[in-house]
Amino acid sequence: MTTDMTTHHIRYERDRYGIVTLTLDLPGSANVMNTDYRTAMATAVDRLEAERDDISGVVVTSAKKTFFAGGDLDALITVTPHTVDAFAAELAAIKDQLRRLETLGRPVAAAINGSALGGGLEIALACHHRVCLDDPAVRLGFPEATLGLLPGAGGVTRTVRMLGVQAALPLLTEGRRLRPGQARDAGWVHELATDHDELLDKARAWVLANPGAVQPWDTPGHQVPDLKPLDPASYGLLAAAPAVVRKKSHGCYPAPERILSAAVEGALLDFDTALLVESRYLLELVTGQVAKNLIGTFWFQLNELKAGHSRPSGHAPYRTSKVGVLGAGMMGAGIAQVSALAGIDVVLRDVTAEAAERGRARIAEALGERHATALDRITPTGDDADLAGCDLVIEAVFEDRRLKNTVLAAAGTAALPDAMIASNTSTLPITGLADAVPDPERFIGLHFFSPVARMPLVEIIRGERTSDATLARAFDYVLQIKKTPIVVNDSRGFYTTRVFATYITEGAALVAEGVHPALVENVAKKAGMAVGPLAVLDEVTLTLPLQARDQAEPGIPYADPAYQLLDTLARELGRTGKAAGAGFYDYPADGSPKTLWPGLAERWTKPDDAAVPEQDIHDRLLFIQALETVRILDQGVLTSAADANIGSVHGIGFAPWTGGTLQLINAYGPQAFVARADHLADAYGERFRPPATLRGKADRGECF
Ligand code: NAI
Repeated sequence: MTTDMTTHHIRYERDRYGIVTLTLDLPGSANVMNTDYRTAMATAVDRLEAERDDISGVVVTSAKKTFFAGGDLDALITVTPHTVDAFAAELAAIKDQLRRLETLGRPVAAAINGSALGGGLEIALACHHRVCLDDPAVRLGFPEATLGLLPGAGGVTRTVRMLGVQAALPLLTEGRRLRPGQARDAGWVHELATDHDELLDKARAWVLANPGAVQPWDTPGHQVPDLKPLDPASYGLLAAAPAVVRKKSHGCYPAPERILSAAVEGALLDFDTALLVESRYLLELVTGQVAKNLIGTFWFQLNELKAGHSRPSGHAPYRTSKVGVLGAGMMGAGIAQVSALAGIDVVLRDVTAEAAERGRARIAEALGERHATALDRITPTGDDADLAGCDLVIEAVFEDRRLKNTVLAAAGTAALPDAMIASNTSTLPITGLADAVPDPERFIGLHFFSPVARMPLVEIIRGERTSDATLARAFDYVLQIKKTPIVVNDSRGFYTTRVFATYITEGAALVAEGVHPALVENVAKKAGMAVGPLAVLDEVTLTLPLQARDQAEPGIPYADPAYQLLDTLARELGRTGKAAGAGFYDYPADGSPKTLWPGLAERWTKPDDAAVPEQDIHDRLLFIQALETVRILDQGVLTSAADANIGSVHGIGFAPWTGGTLQLINAYGPQAFVARADHLADAYGERFRPPATLRGKADRGECF
């Protein structure tokens, strides 16, 4: 083998059969589409063209653990309308290089030795043939849309021509990450290999056997399988696809809509023009606000949190080995399940061994046969003595302070002397509960969300006496069970519960003011909220906000008409929510879907001319949560924008397109936000009046 080193970033090695292996090895732990890549690829392609007569084909692979990681998000987040021309030129260069590679006149195979996401998959698709290492850790896919972007280095154009619009759309818009076998079934990959040697052997063998390889789209007469110009058989797809996309995006996410446009328009054009159309849509997305929100929060801030931004430094990483869970109800069983799945031994304690066994049986059902070893780690019991040896105890009994005090005291005595003791309470202040345990320094709040197995967040609550060492341990445990930790200081309702309360009471306030309940629910979904506020109120029961009001500290301006409505529904009419079979909705006994109770509109809805404008409904539902977040930050309960943004989306389903409760303010523009909030305050109540700190920030032109 002759080893010619064109550049150390992409190794260029020609073997005795004339096959050139390009090994991507850019600076850093993974290959990304940055300046280094563009420069190295330019050199490599120039050289391939110059030496074409001596080359039989090309194999593209990588020296990293992954094949290629994708776009350079550090650069992408900074692109603005002022700098977009430079970005457009870079993008054009990347596409041109790949186009020259696939039209070199020599067979090109990708030897995908690790995950190929985004730009990495686009490089592979510009090869004529793809062999992929069949390793369970390998993933192929286009995560761009989840960050508000589209695969703009040929990903849309090539996938559509390869698979057809209908099969391509979910792969392009949903961010699915396929395993090697799934990628082969989907049509992205041709062959699998069991190890690195076989991977390269298969790629090289294919190159030698296919000297005349051309891409399907460079074959005369090639057409997109399911979308042909002027073909009536294509009309059904054209009519349905926008509706399918819109149903999911509610108009909040431009990326899937632009991907659809690029796919359909591109399908009707020649290949090179299609690539150009794809670029134009990416330029629109990359300079748009939603991409900035999504990249900033779900890439940079999420990574910041996972890297330990809120974890006290100077404490060695701690691995929890045995956790005692008190209460085998909905939450306790969920906590036991995710802990066991992470390899931690679990003692599941309820009032009796039978009650604990019922909890374990529910976990068994959720886990299925596949996770029998995880289930074996869970020991149900009705006896505190079995908590011996636990280095962590999490309490999840009924929300009753006295009961919690009793079980915490007993567990604190039974577990290891230096065990960390935690409560999953969603409302009771942690500092007060700490009195129950022998050593309040080792006590902390670990607030999980329902359903535990699915919700990615845990809100860690630091009590007044919680030590740094305990906080560090709690943080490590949350990462150990593969959840995202946010850290907040103690206060009634912490962060998430308080913000969530403003959302649901605002929904009730709108109904009380005469807005039709269906409009409230639909506008909430159009605003990007996971669930409408009235449906949520039914889930948590209408008595919950009433109890919260009864215990609220004075001075917080709550929406009074909302509480009058809740009082009437829950206390006069007995419509307390889903559990009672009646709340804002009716829940038919035969299990058919819930419907809004007609009595709501009959009693409260005013005629149209008195209605609240739809934009006001939209803004009230989002602004009330952002404003409460600012107050919580002012009170020192929250300490970072990352905790606020990630906590709001991952904990309580706040509209992801906004990038979270504080990013909503940044994106709106703090000054414009303050002006709009003042308008809402004048029209609907002082709860919308921006706090002085926010006014100050807006005046100074600062963001969160
Ligand atoms: P649940 O009613 O489903 O379960 C409570 C369990 O505690 C029952 O199995 C009960 O038998 C058991 N229990 C009662 N006394 C006990 C004792 N002395 N020793 C051991 N176990 C005992 O309640 P859920 O929904 O699981 O909530 C538990 C806690 O989690 C509450 O503090 C709640 O505020 C909190 N939480 C609930 C969320 C939710 O969405 N349901 C979300 C976040 C926190």
